[in-house]
Amino acid sequence: MDDNVTVINHPLIAHKLTLMRRKTASTQKFRSLLREIAHLLTYEITRDLELTTERIETPLEEMDAPRLAGKKLCFVSILRAGNGLLEGMVELLPSARVGHIGMFRDPESLEAVEYYCKVPADIGERRVIVVDPMLATGNSAIAALTHLKKQGARQIKFLCLLAAPEGVAALREAHPDVPVFTAALDERLDEHGYIRPGLGDAGDRMYGTK
Ligand code: URA
Repeated sequence: MDDNVTVINHPLIAHKLTLMRRKTASTQKFRSLLREIAHLLTYEITRDLELTTERIETPLEEMDAPRLAGKKLCFVSILRAGNGLLEGMVELLPSARVGHIGMFRDPESLEAVEYYCKVPADIGERRVIVVDPMLATGNSAIAALTHLKKQGARQIKFLCLLAAPEGVAALREAHPDVPVFTAALDERLDEHGYIRPGLGDAGDRMYGTK
């Protein structure tokens, strides 16, 4: 893997991910674990945010205290599973702008088909973090990033929970300027486009639709 692919290794993330992968995890449990992992991933992916200082008064004295330099962030969720990660991210950064892009996977061709897109008009001036829990074939992510770039997005990161090596390779080839962050890199993609060992269909598991 190249330098622009980061597996966010953290014992808490690894542990919670194992609990999510278990087929016995309930919808409620799956969702709450995803939210917790989203907090931890957001903590890591925002390490490079710029700080400024603000003169404040503590109960004892004045000080120049650090605070985030701007509100120039935009999270873009690839529907529908992206929303599970998005919720936890917005809790940590409530002033971030949010975009949504709807892609579904044609079950025959596994190609991504776009059916919805709404992003902030000033997306070109923001740091953009595109989220989808599963980077499988990479088709949805590639199509979403292509579309967002046409809308003006420039500074983009891609964040997922699980990635297949095939999806990472495809995404890196199509969008070499977009760094990829994942909580785990699994073994492979199966013939149905599922990540193995994986956790099944993330959308179905978080919304209880199967
Ligand atoms: N999408 C999912 O939800 N799960 C997979 O394993 C692959 C794509």
